[in-house]
Amino acid sequence: MVEYTSLKANYEMFAAEYEEAALRALRSGWYILGPELEKFEKDFASYLGVKHCVGLNSGTDALILAVRALGIGPGDEVIVPAGTYIASVLGITENGADPVYVDSLPDTLLMDMDKVEAAITPRTKAIIVVHLYGQACNMTRLKEIAKKHNLPIIEDCAQCHGSTWDGKMTGTEGTISCFSYYPTKPLGALGDAGAICTNDDELADKVTMLRNYGSRVKYHNESIGRNSRLDEVQAAALSVGLKHLDECNDIRIKIAKKYLEGIRNPKVQLPVTDEHATNVFHLFPVIVDDQEAFQKFLLDNDVKTAVHYPIPPFLAECYEGTIAGPADGKALFPNAYHIATHEVSLPIYSGMSEKDVETVIEAVNKY
Ligand SMILES: Cc1ncc(COP(=O)(O)O)c(C=O)c1O
Repeated sequence: MVEYTSLKANYEMFAAEYEEAALRALRSGWYILGPELEKFEKDFASYLGVKHCVGLNSGTDALILAVRALGIGPGDEVIVPAGTYIASVLGITENGADPVYVDSLPDTLLMDMDKVEAAITPRTKAIIVVHLYGQACNMTRLKEIAKKHNLPIIEDCAQCHGSTWDGKMTGTEGTISCFSYYPTKPLGALGDAGAICTNDDELADKVTMLRNYGSRVKYHNESIGRNSRLDEVQAAALSVGLKHLDECNDIRIKIAKKYLEGIRNPKVQLPVTDEHATNVFHLFPVIVDDQEAFQKFLLDNDVKTAVHYPIPPFLAECYEGTIAGPADGKALFPNAYHIATHEVSLPIYSGMSEKDVETVIEAVNKY
């Protein structure tokens, strides 16, 4: 059976380094806001080429705190792709603001930049862009729009560590960027973790304060913050992952190349990468005629798959009857709805064997 993913296979590639790093952190006797975090923040900021990285406990908190640090709250609107993981939207609604969705493109599956301007209203306070599946979005176009309307850009970089638009790293061109280091992500911790990155001194300082109960000085709480800190053991593990990030990205890119060259089936639409973008293939999303039948056929042929994401945020149960869950969402965002109901992600991970890659190609071609 070809597993959909294997964190164990990835861990085993660098087990000795992970174990050494975890032991170092454990034996230090210092577990929160210490030297491992400081080192990782410095190294990740330098990997991207930005001034600041502030380590956090998850990508979701990174989004919540980025929106909060920009001063966005009730009565405000934030533009966000209709086709994304719900965490992008939670960043908005957890601050009492309203999401305004923009439909996806049918080929790259990313936010349709031509539809962004029509979504801007006098209440718009920011635009969230999501470099979904590992591919960078059109930042040239988005920056033009943001500049014209004087709006900050929040980059959701949960899935794109190391990908570029026109040679520029994702997470460096917006006002603030939000990373997840959930274990399956291109750079993953051994538990939950995340960060914001920015060149803006004030925003970095605000998030640093917000992640620590909203205080700079112990017991002096100047803002309503959270406990969103990234712990020392995870920071130590992330330093190992960061060392091997490009290598692991290259492994997935090579697997994607094999899929793109080897899969020939008119019922399966392969992922399209814009010529200005690079794609680190966090996932390998295909669009198929019949999601359920395709998944079943692959499983019967020894290949496990997944769907990202079967229920788009605008159809989430928690948003039903609210602005975040418009009743006519399916009609308003037809491409995002089509993707949600026709997308299937093929296995792609570092540590995946060549034989497994071949099995996937054969099964998809046989479908
Ligand atoms: C696009 C996107 N944004 C945000 C998140 C949230 O990150 P986390 O799981 O670290 O909270 C995820 C992760 O699953 C994601 O895929």
